[in-house]
Amino acid sequence: MIDGQTLLYGIIGNPVHHSLSPVMHNRAFAALDMNGVYVPMPVTDLAVAVQGLRALGFRGVSVTVPHKEAIISLLDEVDPVAQRIGAVNTLLIRERPSDGKRVIRGFNTDWLGANLALADKVRLEESRVLILGAGGAAKAIAFGLVEAGATVILSNRTVSRGMELADWLGCTFVPLTGLASVEAEVLVNTTTVGMEPHSEDIPLDPGLLHRFTTVMDIVYAPLQTRLLREAAACGCTVIDGLAMLVYQGAAQFRIWTGIRPDIQLMRRALEERLASG
Ligand code: ATR
Repeated sequence: MIDGQTLLYGIIGNPVHHSLSPVMHNRAFAALDMNGVYVPMPVTDLAVAVQGLRALGFRGVSVTVPHKEAIISLLDEVDPVAQRIGAVNTLLIRERPSDGKRVIRGFNTDWLGANLALADKVRLEESRVLILGAGGAAKAIAFGLVEAGATVILSNRTVSRGMELADWLGCTFVPLTGLASVEAEVLVNTTTVGMEPHSEDIPLDPGLLHRFTTVMDIVYAPLQTRLLREAAACGCTVIDGLAMLVYQGAAQFRIWTGIRPDIQLMRRALEERLASG
């Protein structure tokens, strides 16, 4: 029941109508019998939207593409890790007791989501991880893996972009044409290759998959990407795109409420939504 006491949460981005985050967070609120609601909000004018969130009394907000970098300059405080990554995906909005001003602090939970999804299956500090891609997702994921002590090797279609990120991370860059010589146990696809409607695409030669023990894809539409299907057929342990989504969402929920939500319940909510089309 939404009433005068309902606490407001949501997601800003453009577009956001396909976002699965409302399903996951609203299920967690319901399961905990909390009077909160999480709504999708398409945003083009980011500065005005941030003022609006403050004025309307929102408590917590997710930030997605294309606003994760631009929002930083509009915040009152930024968590040091988010500052280093240069991207914020979570806002916590609190009233300052001294003057009643609503203060917005930004965090990044993407890197943690990827870490936790992988740490379920592998010991990161002993792993060599090949990351495909050099976009925003790759940056957060690779940062988290380096922090966890993994050895990261980066590859990307656009060499200059890949080399720039590899330099920033202090890791090795290998062009896509050189993947056959890479020695790594874990493969993480952060590119959009394999996403619907191009679900028969695969980001690397499937003949290389037997070299890895564990393969993670951040694409979740479809959930069983061709990469994951081929990897499973080679005997690899596979981690699908919902794992990172759920763990990063659970970390957001905890930042907002102080409560660790039920990860399995959030995942089931997402699976049901995907299954219902
Ligand atoms: P995000 O911020 O979500 O990571 P992005 O910045 O658009 O998204 O990055 C998408 C990644 O997918 C990039 O690494 C991109 O490679 P380029 O840097 O060469 O553009 C990669 N990518 C997208 N389509 C690709 C394709 N058809 N083949 C190989 N890589 C592709």
